[in-house]
Amino acid sequence: MPPQYLYIYYITLIMVNKSYDFLVIGSGIAGVSFAINAAKYGSVVMITKKQDSDSNTNYAQGGVACVLGDDDTFESHVSDTLIAGAGLCDIDAVKILVEEGPPRIRELLDYGVRFSTVDNVAAEGASLYNLHLGREGGHSVNRIVHAKDLTGRELEATLLMKLREFDNITILENHCAVELITGHHVKNASNQYECFGAYVLDSINRKIFPIAAKVTCLASGGAGHVYLHSTNPAIATGDGVAMAYRAGAKIANMEFIQFHPTTLFHEKANSFLISEALRGYGAVLRDAGGREFMSKYHPQSDLAPRDIVARAIDNEMKISGLPCVYLDVRHKDARTTIEQFPNIYNQCLSFGINITKDLIPVVPAAHYICGGVMVDYYGNTNITNLYACGETACTGVHGANRLASNSLLEALVFSHRAVIDAAERVGKCRNIDTNDIPDWDDSGTHDIEEWVLLSHNLVEIQSVMSNYVGIVRSNLRLDRALRRVNLLGKEIEDFYKRAKITPQLLELRNIVTTAKLIIVSALKRRESRGLHYTTDYPCQNNKKSFKKNTIVSNRRKAPMSTGLKICQ
Ligand code: SIN
Repeated sequence: MPPQYLYIYYITLIMVNKSYDFLVIGSGIAGVSFAINAAKYGSVVMITKKQDSDSNTNYAQGGVACVLGDDDTFESHVSDTLIAGAGLCDIDAVKILVEEGPPRIRELLDYGVRFSTVDNVAAEGASLYNLHLGREGGHSVNRIVHAKDLTGRELEATLLMKLREFDNITILENHCAVELITGHHVKNASNQYECFGAYVLDSINRKIFPIAAKVTCLASGGAGHVYLHSTNPAIATGDGVAMAYRAGAKIANMEFIQFHPTTLFHEKANSFLISEALRGYGAVLRDAGGREFMSKYHPQSDLAPRDIVARAIDNEMKISGLPCVYLDVRHKDARTTIEQFPNIYNQCLSFGINITKDLIPVVPAAHYICGGVMVDYYGNTNITNLYACGETACTGVHGANRLASNSLLEALVFSHRAVIDAAERVGKCRNIDTNDIPDWDDSGTHDIEEWVLLSHNLVEIQSVMSNYVGIVRSNLRLDRALRRVNLLGKEIEDFYKRAKITPQLLELRNIVTTAKLIIVSALKRRESRGLHYTTDYPCQNNKKSFKKNTIVSNRRKAPMSTGLKICQ
């Protein structure tokens, strides 16, 4: 065996049946923050599907909303968040989000994150009081802390550097979670709905093995790839939500899919995000005739909440029959534009668009899922020892529509709180006996030659979701989508049972589950609210019975009797 294979073989051997205090699934801002904090209380393993820096966070341009300006107050940020959330936010969760923001930003500065300052230098020596605060839709003042238009990249790189300082954190790249290990799998477990870690696929060696952990944190990001066009990287396949659903967790508010109003319309641009910060800076949306149109739709014009801007663009495109609208930043000082938005400037230039001189063609694309695995204020799901953070979780802060730049803040604030709770739990747990966890059984499966069917299935799901479960919905469209997705789900499950598992197959299975959760949740909401707009019920229903979360769960009522219990 060549030495490099011997090394991989050795690493694989020591991984099998290894037990940790904390297992973190995902390496975006939520997962990495959780891991850094958790490492103070015990051993941590963080698994990630590709490289540790491949995450949705990396693509975030805008920033982190935080009350830091002299003209700002907690009340104002809370109020903006509640207005965007269209009556469905959990007010206490929103207060936690807003009030615990400043200490989290201070922590990031201590880690060395180079946010833009008022002098507009991404500077060392930045303090909470000289940060440059940008503006985005739905915010009544400037409160977006950012690193030019590359905030996510700066955050991810700095946090990963910090993570590597801990020698009790093991990072496993190219490892995908297959299923959560729950009482269903474990010998003599007393509770079917207790989590003991996860079965994990080492995608280089194509081996599945269990990782046992006292606490498991799902932080695997969003699910933009349920749709044909998304601002998310290809890894955003709803893995956390789908696995948690299969394990019996409550999943909430999946009908609220945020479409970002402005992604670059260009055949090669792959839905490149044109940050809302550009509109905060003064860019104006125009139709093909050069007419500004947002003032027709909302008093805040181009800075209206995102659902309104996305629907307005959708409407303008339907009226004109054209495939895009345009964003105009030509009237702003060219040097300042390039200095503040170097990433957008350079990306557009690479497609032949000079944003200081040309109109930018834009279309909406799937961007963020407001729903997810339902958690309490400390990240607990309804499965014992299972936490969820970041886009995978539904904390209640976004309600029916997320306010711009509240998501990175949510990931920071709630992953911090989750560790406080989880550390206490880990202290009380005894070690898991890995002998109680069976090995993954893939007998009867084999390498199937028709892998191309998987990519066909993927395009089918994405097309169904984009055509029938997009910005404007109806019962007819949703019913149609459900019939098709149910059929695809059966085909994929059948494939899954027969085939040797690959990352592509796992993702497809998670995508189809997530798609179904979105459709089923959308059918349950018989009104239009926030990001869910249906022509059958075009208005928001203000009766109390409509102001509640849409919850879906596949939990069966079959409690198991006495037996092994790791944690109280
Ligand atoms: C953006 O920069 O427009 C995206 C920020 C966000 O989604 O919060």
